[in-house]
Amino acid sequence: MSQTLKAVRGTRDLLPPETALWNRIEATARAVFARYNFGEIRTPIFEDTSLFARSVGEETDIVSKEMYTWEDRARAQSEKAQSLTLRPENTAGVVRAYIEHKLGETGQLQKLYYIGPQFRRERPQKGRYRQFWQIGAEVIGPPSAGSESPLRDAEVLEMLATLLDELGITGWTLELNSVGSAADRARYNEVLRAALIPLAPKMCADCRRRAVTNPLRVLDCKIPEDQPVIELLPKIGDSLDEDSKKHFAAVIVALDAAGVPYTLNSRLVRGLDYYTRTTFEFAHGGLGAQNALLGGGRYDGLSEAIGGPKAPGIGFAMGLDRLVLTLQGADQVQKAAPPKVAYIAPLGENLNAAALVLARELRRAGLSVELGDGSFRLKKSFEAADKIARRIVILGEDELQSGILTVKDFATGIQTKVPRAELAAFLAR
Ligand code: HAM
Repeated sequence: MSQTLKAVRGTRDLLPPETALWNRIEATARAVFARYNFGEIRTPIFEDTSLFARSVGEETDIVSKEMYTWEDRARAQSEKAQSLTLRPENTAGVVRAYIEHKLGETGQLQKLYYIGPQFRRERPQKGRYRQFWQIGAEVIGPPSAGSESPLRDAEVLEMLATLLDELGITGWTLELNSVGSAADRARYNEVLRAALIPLAPKMCADCRRRAVTNPLRVLDCKIPEDQPVIELLPKIGDSLDEDSKKHFAAVIVALDAAGVPYTLNSRLVRGLDYYTRTTFEFAHGGLGAQNALLGGGRYDGLSEAIGGPKAPGIGFAMGLDRLVLTLQGADQVQKAAPPKVAYIAPLGENLNAAALVLARELRRAGLSVELGDGSFRLKKSFEAADKIARRIVILGEDELQSGILTVKDFATGIQTKVPRAELAAFLAR
């Protein structure tokens, strides 16, 4: 017997009625983004591998362990095979597109959002998948367009608070930090490197390597035994220069004015190398171990790191799978709303074509209609309809000739004769 095939580990099928919740979340996000004047961008699902190495960073968990990478077939023998990667996140692709389409030359701030699948080869568990979905947005542009302003940071955070509220997600928390400018980070990396010399030998293999190659990434370590050591390390806040401190203070003033609650967390450096200055995460207690609903921050040097013009930016990505889990956990999913569907039951196979015509009429009038089958006995039609529809419309020879249809409402049990011309209006009530 051949083996039954299943969705690959870490991937899953999304089925109705759950997909209705996914659609609702996406629609709410699109509506909020429109109010903040964001437009949608769709970038390819795979990119040249070097894009992620140069943006997210070689030493990050994402690039060093979690990417789905393969060699594409070379077109000609003389050609080198291109290394391609399924996108593990979407910021790098957006910035690549910003550079490729010279969006900076418009002189305008680009406000772009995306909704789509991302791929990371992580250990699957609740809220963590190998194919997962992100809703994200980026604000990026030349400095002359105001892209460096702390007001952009505060506006993005305020928008996120609004979006979570409108989704009906309560009890979220926002953690905020500044990782400083590129120069601040370089300085902090050296401070960490020195501090790690006596400590690293007692730490895990990843930490020992990173203590030399990219000490900041030691702070991402999840190994419980290493946490007390990490607690002792110097804090990044002490390495910030005056400009970075001023920027962060201005973000906080604007957030306070807008009444967005947050807590400061000096350990929040985020697991991607492109961040500068403001970094943040929103979490939700209902999610368990994978409690980050979304994360983001500023990336003032990213465009230049991948060969583009100076284009400071800030953005975030929310885990759509986790938004769904949170709303399901809070039991806020409307229990499958009572079906508005009407079920058409043709009484005999000779009436199937006429039933299709009637269904077409009603669907064109905007109604949701389920079409039965004339081979069903009346009892079977009623049983099928009762499971999915609010009303059943009987279409027999008499009804077809007279143009008067019999409609039964399952909730009330009332049976009504309705002229065909009034049927759509009747069912819509
Ligand atoms: P990230 O923190 O790697 O940031 O991911 C953002 C969010 O995606 C996480 O907070 C989480 O909700 C969700 N997520 C990540 N990995 C998984 C997974 N394996 N399964 C389910 N959900 C997951 C970024 O991706 C940055 N590009 C965000 C950004 C945009 N920063 C600036 N602009």
